[in-house]
Amino acid sequence: MTAEKRNFLDLSDFSGATLRAILDAGKDMKSRRRTPAAVQDRPLEGKNVVLIFEQPSLRTRMSFEVGIRDLGGSPVMVTGKEIELGEREAIKDTARVISRYFDAIMIRMLDHQKLLELAHWAEVPVINGLTKTSHPCQVMADLMTFEERQGPIKGRTVAWTGDSNNVLASWVHAAARFDFTMRIATPEELAPRPDLIAWAKKEGAKIELTRDPFEAVDGADAVITDTWVSMGDAEKERRHNLLQPYQVNAKLLKAAHRDAIFLHCLPAHRGEEVTDEIIDGPQSAVLDEAENRLHAQKGVLAWCFEAIQA
Ligand code: CP
Ligand code: NVA
Repeated sequence: MTAEKRNFLDLSDFSGATLRAILDAGKDMKSRRRTPAAVQDRPLEGKNVVLIFEQPSLRTRMSFEVGIRDLGGSPVMVTGKEIELGEREAIKDTARVISRYFDAIMIRMLDHQKLLELAHWAEVPVINGLTKTSHPCQVMADLMTFEERQGPIKGRTVAWTGDSNNVLASWVHAAARFDFTMRIATPEELAPRPDLIAWAKKEGAKIELTRDPFEAVDGADAVITDTWVSMGDAEKERRHNLLQPYQVNAKLLKAAHRDAIFLHCLPAHRGEEVTDEIIDGPQSAVLDEAENRLHAQKGVLAWCFEAIQA
């Protein structure tokens, strides 16, 4: 294994300074995209990156493919089904074989432990493109979007209402690294994992837990939600019943700061976790957020390929 290889597995693995350098690089490349100055942004020239998907994806797949091409590299997409990861052969063998062909691996798989196993054995950088536990690339794009619209996130208040899922976990990691207040409203039955909250408290993150979505969004600078049923979740009906009061609608958003933005990683389930009038309304930043997957991940890729000294 190459000791110095740069994985991007979780925001909690990084210092705030490194994450800031990645975001800044992504922002700079965004400003240069499709201008003559973009010629300097080719750290992946001659590099091959494999994108492995065990679950469906629109944004992650497309933003990584385009981002890798923009940076001069070549993406190759395979589905988990094709390679039967962890079934056809040991992950250890798959990881080491892939490392003989490719310069980096981006993977979406539900089992976070298997991601860690793959990253351990791979001799090239591994990027987490979503597990059941976290979605760090998404939250890098969310942070970029927040700051474009609202200015520096340090000292601000972000509210999450709904299920405590992978995206929320990465937001909690971000709260510890970027020094903002994270208010989280969930039903008791779907509260964040105690170990996640314990980690955040130990790191000095300002996390506030409540059952009341109105208390969470009160005066907040951003209101965030996500699907009530994530990939791999069972008990769809039970979740719907529990999460109904956490819907982001006009009444709830009104309780936030008047200039608050609405964020959702997408895909959204209109009429469930968010109403049409909010997702299509003036406070919604969801399309910028989806676009910023491209720009933030270009920062991540540049870091993995050691084009950022942080
Ligand atoms: N937000 C996100 O990860 O979207 P996809 O599932 O379409 O990649
Ligand atoms: N929480 C969602 C995010 C999808 C991008 C899921 O895991 O399905």
